[in-house]
Amino acid sequence: MIAILDFGSQYTELIARRIREINVYSEVIPHDTPASKIKAKYSGIILSGGPSSVFEEDAPVCDQDIFFCGLPVLGICYGMQLMAHKLGGKVERGTKHEYGKANLFITNNFTLLEGLWLEMNIWMSHSDSIVELPQGFQELGHTDNCKYAAMGNPSSKLYGIQFHPEVVHTPRGKEVIKNFVHNVCKCEPNWTAQSFIDESLEKIHQEVGDSKVLCALSGGVDSTTVAALLKKAIGPRLTCMFIDQGFMRKNEAERIVRLFDEFDINLIHVNATERFFKKVKGITDPEQKRKQIGEEFVRVFEEESKKIKGDFKFLAQGTLYPDIIESAAIGASGTAVTIKTHHNVGGLPDDIDFIILEPLKKLFKDEVRKVGLALGVPENIIFRQPFPGPGLAIRILGEITPTRVKILQEADAIVMEEIKKAGLYRDIWQAFAVLLPIKTVGVQGDKRTYQNTVAIRAVTSEDAMTAQWARLPYDLLEILSTRIINEVPEINRVVYDISSKPPSTIEWE
Ligand code: XMP
Repeated sequence: MIAILDFGSQYTELIARRIREINVYSEVIPHDTPASKIKAKYSGIILSGGPSSVFEEDAPVCDQDIFFCGLPVLGICYGMQLMAHKLGGKVERGTKHEYGKANLFITNNFTLLEGLWLEMNIWMSHSDSIVELPQGFQELGHTDNCKYAAMGNPSSKLYGIQFHPEVVHTPRGKEVIKNFVHNVCKCEPNWTAQSFIDESLEKIHQEVGDSKVLCALSGGVDSTTVAALLKKAIGPRLTCMFIDQGFMRKNEAERIVRLFDEFDINLIHVNATERFFKKVKGITDPEQKRKQIGEEFVRVFEEESKKIKGDFKFLAQGTLYPDIIESAAIGASGTAVTIKTHHNVGGLPDDIDFIILEPLKKLFKDEVRKVGLALGVPENIIFRQPFPGPGLAIRILGEITPTRVKILQEADAIVMEEIKKAGLYRDIWQAFAVLLPIKTVGVQGDKRTYQNTVAIRAVTSEDAMTAQWARLPYDLLEILSTRIINEVPEINRVVYDISSKPPSTIEWE
């Protein structure tokens, strides 16, 4: 296992992801974790980048002993500067920021840069640079602007790179990471979906003991995978609860109940539609909606679980890594800003009666899919497009009423049907309709109409952290527009959203 010491870079988790892609488990841990603790558990250390300068008074530092504890260390960007600074090299304060693509001229291609030769494209983002290497180190590569873009002390297994190997703009960065993890740290590539399952089962046994767990089930891949994992771990002590808040897709609630019947998971179906509509009545602010819905969810869970006298100590849910990052529930340097309150994270009130279990909270969506498949979750669930916890409520801009939900359900069902018919369902991360709070004038059958506008949103993405608007064929857009306007009388205009993430988000609220 590799320890990634977090100095606050926005890419820290990408490092973890790249390491997992080469089948080695890695964990992001606080930058000041004592060397003795690291040594006991890990085979190698990576120091992440970060926004600080080693010259700042309160710049984050690591335990100096990590450089002498015998474990290999790779410093990336700020991590490299810190290593050089701490080991007697010289870092110079930058006046200019070097940001973007650069060319690395490789001088020594042993161990860390093995298999790479002469030149490679890299991505830089730094101001300070190293101007003198610490004793025992040698230059491995430089760029036009950076004298030491890669350095190494092979006998002490200490390495530093000024560029970011974890981002896609360093196309061969994965090889650098692989060289460090496999060749220098000697980690075996044995982290797989199965090993994740085995480890999780053990953790669940330890944490849950003989208690009962209530699992919040939405029917999507995340919560279903959590349910499958828990079923395997604790068998009949698991009860799943599906709360229909009234904001599901057309016929979705019935479909979920049928599916879990087939799947042999103990499911309680709660129809809480009226409560939720009351709770969001008159609310138009997106964050307010999310918070109200999140809170109501927990209340319903508490009440319903008491009713069935289950004595549930734990509440399990399918929180994923991006949910946590974007809710700023963690934040490398504690400075991450809240982008949206995801209802299954930031929306939870403080006085909650359950201990929360989130076994997938360190995984990205594609990893969850692999885990779900390994657990035998049916493919039609595994490859379902993600659907947000607050459901259609955050796709209805403005006030949520039963009528507006019905309108959106009809339009959305057409989008789903046609995307599937066109054979694009799996290629597209998410496709859906959004009901706008805008009425426009139209003409239908020689009559003037003044009706609602629907936006169609379709994006491609790897993990929802970034997304591109999908280049849907014009003919498909035409079919969508014609069908929606003809079949949903309350809509007379359809627009297509051509914004990517960032700067937009996938959902409109
Ligand atoms: P955004 O809109 O933030 O969405 O780009 C990223 C991904 O997360 C989904 N999403 C949610 N999922 N609870 C969830 O379980 C939520 O509150 C929530 N909000 C957004 C969204 O559909 C997309 O896949």
